[in-house]
Amino acid sequence: MSIVRRGRSAIRRIAFGDTLIPQEFTIALREPQQEISVWLHGLGDPIDVTRRITTACCAPLTIGVSLDEGQRLGRSRFHALLLFCERTQERRVLGEIRLASKTILPLDGSELILFNVLGSSNYCLPKPRLWAHFVSQAYSNWRNLQSFDVKMTALELRAAIVTFIRPHPLGLVSIVTEAGGNIFPMNLMGELGNGYFAFALKDSRLAAHLVEREGRIALSTVPMPLCSLAFQYAAHHTKESIDWDQLPFPLKLSKEFRIPVPVSAPRVREIQVDQVHKIGSHTLFVARVISDERFSEELQVHVVHGFYQHWRLRGQREALAASVAADSLNKRGLAAS
Ligand SMILES: Cc1cc2nc3c(=O)[nH]c(=O)nc-3n(C[C@H](O)[C@H](O)[C@H](O)COP(=O)(O)O)c2cc1C
Repeated sequence: MSIVRRGRSAIRRIAFGDTLIPQEFTIALREPQQEISVWLHGLGDPIDVTRRITTACCAPLTIGVSLDEGQRLGRSRFHALLLFCERTQERRVLGEIRLASKTILPLDGSELILFNVLGSSNYCLPKPRLWAHFVSQAYSNWRNLQSFDVKMTALELRAAIVTFIRPHPLGLVSIVTEAGGNIFPMNLMGELGNGYFAFALKDSRLAAHLVEREGRIALSTVPMPLCSLAFQYAAHHTKESIDWDQLPFPLKLSKEFRIPVPVSAPRVREIQVDQVHKIGSHTLFVARVISDERFSEELQVHVVHGFYQHWRLRGQREALAASVAADSLNKRGLAAS
């Protein structure tokens, strides 16, 4: 290795330590995850919104939180704070996002509040490490922004990282269309309570338009052995249809809609789209859960940010290295090099 390269890698080691791990990190958890709770502050007593939150759009970064009627205290415009807390006894706060409400979407018996993001704080890494990442990300963002189809500001990127402190279950969306159908991964989604569910799909990919056209999907959670295939099927976001017969795992039909889903899916929900909102880079689908079947309690793929994974395994160097290798296997069926 040349002296220049050696010098560069020494500087990286000093700046980042052992925090240079994948930002999008896969872990195995039972669903619903019990590690992190999310609290909304700013409307009287804090409200637990762990199972009533979703990312509605990336650019502009828009967070959706559903509240029961009356919880908004009659306010039409307000600021709020989301706290991402450990569920351990210490209840440590690992992240904060500062919000300003922008739109209220009425649901039956509740409402979905869409918020703009004003700022965020992340406590998963020590400040110098965090800023080493932020400076490096800001530089790479500045250099490559023109080539990104989703153009997020540095403020939005930092807040999006905080949203992934809450483990996001990975879903495989199945859809039947005239041309055949499709199956693709999705994690920008969340329950809204009262039988409502929301998800966000990039407007620039065909998947969003298939869902808008058909108005119904089957959503399967992903058992660990299907993880690398689910990642491979990211390419299906750009396809009009796929050949069901070519999928290397057995399928069965969902309960009501008769949409093909993996036989090994631990949970399958059938979802009917109720509202479609074009926000920016993403289309937000607000939907109703028509059926919800749980077939097993096994571990399922969840996606977290690498900073949170580093927090989970802080001080456990070998366990962290093993989790990086497992993540690589999960995604590509390959060990990390
Ligand atoms: C694990 C995983 C989760 C994803 N979740 C979403 C999602 O929630 N919404 C979405 O629009 N795209 C989602 N995608 C798709 C990607 O954002 C991207 O559009 C897709 O990989 C095709 O991108 P490309 O055309 O740039 O290669 C996901 C991809 C992966 C691998």
